[in-house]
Amino acid sequence: MKKITLNILGLGKVGRVFAQVWSRLPEVEITGLYHRRPLSSDEQAQLPTAKVVQHLNQLPPADLWIIAVSDTSILEVATKLSQTTISFQQAVVCHCSGILTAEELLPLQAKGAAIASCHPILTFAAFEQAVTHFTGCYIGLEGDSLAVQRLKPLLIALGTHPLEIPRQAKVLYHLMAVVSGNFVAILLDFAAKCAEKSLIDCKMAMRIVAPLMESTLANAILHSPAEALSGPFSRLDKDSIHKHLDALQQSLPAQEALYKALGKAALQLNPDISLEANGKKEAIYNVLS
Ligand SMILES: NC(=O)c1ccc[n+]([C@@H]2O[C@H](COP(=O)([O-])OP(=O)(O)OC[C@H]3O[C@@H](n4cnc5c(N)ncnc54)[C@H](OP(=O)(O)O)[C@@H]3O)[C@@H](O)[C@H]2O)c1
Repeated sequence: MKKITLNILGLGKVGRVFAQVWSRLPEVEITGLYHRRPLSSDEQAQLPTAKVVQHLNQLPPADLWIIAVSDTSILEVATKLSQTTISFQQAVVCHCSGILTAEELLPLQAKGAAIASCHPILTFAAFEQAVTHFTGCYIGLEGDSLAVQRLKPLLIALGTHPLEIPRQAKVLYHLMAVVSGNFVAILLDFAAKCAEKSLIDCKMAMRIVAPLMESTLANAILHSPAEALSGPFSRLDKDSIHKHLDALQQSLPAQEALYKALGKAALQLNPDISLEANGKKEAIYNVLS
């Protein structure tokens, strides 16, 4: 059976992981890899093949194109590609941005390609970890129905879960990924700063907070975020919150605004709506404002 030919453009963090995982699909043959500059030996070692071109017009035609360049360059690369002599009739072209839609690829749609955005909901900060966790990750898929229809079975064959996202929902969909993927690191950093001021070693602090964060996450997923809320914002303990604010003003003034914003959000999440609780919430809200 004829293999599906694949070109990958941009061999940054995502491009190199994609090259590695897509090369394992027996029905796919990687025919072209493009990167605008020579790769370092470490970057090269993460690729399934050494053959990388540095000019778009050196790429062969392909059934599937993945543009894995930075968000700000997707339209530029799509435009340059559309100006080459390469044929895009019958081809599927996708980019990997979470926030941008397939419309970045309109210059290639005008040349006959079916276009899509194909965004892995995964962090690519570490190569090996991303390769390992790629199987099982969700992929936000949006674009022309032909492109979505062709990409879906391949993404399933890769062990991922494709999830169709309506074009108009992409920004909020991306926000979901950013809040869950990025803001957890901010909370951990906040906890580490508190630990440092309490003279607890940073590595020890991570060991202390990890089970706390993991059990809260497990509770929130199993039940609901509201039911996982505990501590002073659950008990509506104004005295403790006052003490926290005093300590923040003295030792971590840069974190005060974050604490206040998160505290207000926690008050809104607190499910107790009795008269007594509402009175306490209002008093705490005023302290946080
Ligand atoms: N990182 C993540 O966790 C993650 C997760 C999901 C999706 N994504 C998406 O995946 C895509 C790639 O992200 P990334 O994290 O892999 O970024 P990255 O590591 O910064 O790699 C981007 C690559 O694009 C190349 N590039 C930038 N502008 C270019 C241009 N005008 N022409 C040719 N090549 C160009 C860069 O080349 P140079 O090295 O020469 O600058 C770099 O190799 C983005 O759309 C991003 O939103 C990222």
